[in-house]
Amino acid sequence: MQRVIAIYPGTFDPPTNGHLDLIQRGARIFDELVVAILRNSEKAPLFSVEERLEMLRECITPWENVRVESFAGLLVDYARERGAHAVLRGIRAVSDYEYELQMAWMNRKLDPSLETVFMMPAGAYSYLSSRLVREIGALGGALGGLVPASVESRLRERFRDAQAAPR
Ligand code: PNS
Repeated sequence: MQRVIAIYPGTFDPPTNGHLDLIQRGARIFDELVVAILRNSEKAPLFSVEERLEMLRECITPWENVRVESFAGLLVDYARERGAHAVLRGIRAVSDYEYELQMAWMNRKLDPSLETVFMMPAGAYSYLSSRLVREIGALGGALGGLVPASVESRLRERFRDAQAAPR
């Protein structure tokens, strides 16, 4: 029987408990799940791709069928290279749907053989985003329950360094 491979692409700056929740769900239904960090993002990231690779690799140890990579260029090209059948994306609320649907349609236009599968994270993460986590971290707010402990300590370190740097 053919093994079903899915790519879970994103920026993951930083990875959150919502991302991990989706990885857990994806790991249950796909034979292999590749978490893929976009390298050539237009966004200026807080963490380098290497730091995000490390953070995600520290978090995915419970799942044997999950691995983490980075990619550049078109997602459909990367998915084809990896022999993937599906792209996994999370939808937290209706507000995510429009952007996700547009991407899914465009990816289908570029490669009709690649399916996009949407999954919902646990309701507790429906308001969680990397952008809010960065903002809370920068302003010294509590991050418990929002990100894995290892990510939280890196965020604290990053913002401590930023405060210590001369202006
Ligand atoms: O976590 P994000 O930032 O919402 O993830 C967006 C991502 C990485 C999935 C998307 O930007 C992407 O796939 N970029 C790769 C370039 C590409 O294929 N663009 C066309 C998508 S329709």
